[in-house]
Amino acid sequence: MREIAVFGGSSHPELTAEICAHLRVPQRPVLLKRFANDCLEVQLQSNCRERDVFIIQSLVRPVQEHLVELLLMADAARGASAARVNAVIPHYAYARSDKKDAPRISIGGRLVADLLVTAGVDRVLTLNLHSPQVHGFFSVPVDHLHALRELAAHFRQRDLSNAVVVSPDLGYAKSAAAFARRLGLPVAAGAKERMSDTEVRIAAIIGDVAGRDVIVLDDEISRGTTVFELLDRLREQGARSVAVACTHGLFADNALDKLAASDVTEIVCTNSAPLETEHSKLTVLSVAPALAEAISRIHNGESVSSLFDH
Ligand code: R5P
Repeated sequence: MREIAVFGGSSHPELTAEICAHLRVPQRPVLLKRFANDCLEVQLQSNCRERDVFIIQSLVRPVQEHLVELLLMADAARGASAARVNAVIPHYAYARSDKKDAPRISIGGRLVADLLVTAGVDRVLTLNLHSPQVHGFFSVPVDHLHALRELAAHFRQRDLSNAVVVSPDLGYAKSAAAFARRLGLPVAAGAKERMSDTEVRIAAIIGDVAGRDVIVLDDEISRGTTVFELLDRLREQGARSVAVACTHGLFADNALDKLAASDVTEIVCTNSAPLETEHSKLTVLSVAPALAEAISRIHNGESVSSLFDH
């Protein structure tokens, strides 16, 4: 069996440390240098030759810095004769750029996938891509986990006798339905249209939310524009209470404080992205055990999909 070697980029050291603790392997050191011309250089400070190398890097702010760092780390591992280079990307931010929905725009999700492969990545492990087709942007194998198991375990501790799961848009309704099935709940979805990064319109909610305890489920909360628009519709339609859950809690522009100041009962996310602030309404669930289990299975050539099926 080839030895496993786990390295972490600078995006989320706490998650890397937690994953290594679950795997019971040491985190290998990395030296990152920035030159006067602003270029980066990475040195993996542990032997990679014929090792099964895992590089953990979440593409969170500053995304471009963390992306280049990941590309350089993959290149360094390949150049050091790694047997296999696995990129573990808990949050693949460029997944939101997945279609040509305006003239002459770039499709970053596909381009970054190609860049990773060009840099030497042989395999990707990631979590809740914004849309399922992004999986197919990669020309190498991708293990695509979700956090529905963790989120469902959290909400099973609540009184769900009057609850309904609501997806803000039809695109995420399939995942919301899978989540609702796990909890034995009905599902509803918003008819959402995004005008810009800061403006969305939810014209209607398809499904019954009146008098219900709503669990809003989304892949990510960024500025919170989507959730705030959905909260307006839910109030108009007489929802009794609203809890908000997502995989990627990015909380740009003070979205966490704003959301916590609203009438939502709780906010639940995972630690796929590092969180700078805390709040009494916020619960952060760890995806480290799931990622560590997947890494272990990939390393041992065991099935991953059987563990994390939808
Ligand atoms: C978009 O389609 C996603 O599913 C999320 O709803 C979106 O990324 C959230 O962004 P924001 O919080 O800025 O509305």
